[in-house]
Amino acid sequence: MSDALAYLVKARPEAMGHYFAFLKDAGRHLEPKTRALISVITKVHAQTERGLRQYVKRALAAGCSGTEVLDALLMAFPALGLAKIVWAVDVLIAMKLPAFELGGLAVREWREIGLLKSIPRGRLQRVERGARAVFVYRDAEGCRVYDAHCPHQGTDIPLEAQKGGRLVCPKHGWTFDARTGACVAKGDAPLRAIESRIEDGKLLARL
Ligand code: FES
Repeated sequence: MSDALAYLVKARPEAMGHYFAFLKDAGRHLEPKTRALISVITKVHAQTERGLRQYVKRALAAGCSGTEVLDALLMAFPALGLAKIVWAVDVLIAMKLPAFELGGLAVREWREIGLLKSIPRGRLQRVERGARAVFVYRDAEGCRVYDAHCPHQGTDIPLEAQKGGRLVCPKHGWTFDARTGACVAKGDAPLRAIESRIEDGKLLARL
């Protein structure tokens, strides 16, 4: 939140409460990726760097790929114009996020992770598919799949980084909840969630 918004929250809590409730309610029927991409576009339109950095990370955490973020920016060209899109891309490059590295922008496809019956419940697994590695966690609610690359600087996190119910990135110590991918210590971004689905008894992920 910008300093100005934080000030208004304190100075006019009631009015600002209505404002935030309105924003939340306005996106109630959108799925998380769409909501996150719209938020990214609004930050680019307003050219608020702190907001853009914050919402790009949220979009990636919601499962957007770098390609989808770039597509959203380009689709918004009539509203943003080239100068704002170039400004946003400069911010993205400066963030050094693995999702925007040129080699990582390939179009994603559904790939088999494994037979559902072979995935144990309550135990984190690491699966490699070609050049990609993911963590899989299965519980009573289903399977969740996360990118095994640290959202900080892209370190490939090994399964041995698991300590109790947590994953500790060996490079700088960002720590994640092994079950939810949430960042629980040191860093400020979760493991990137990867879209997954069950089909014919197999777990598929969009890699
Ligand atoms: S690369 Fe993982 S904590 Fe820095």
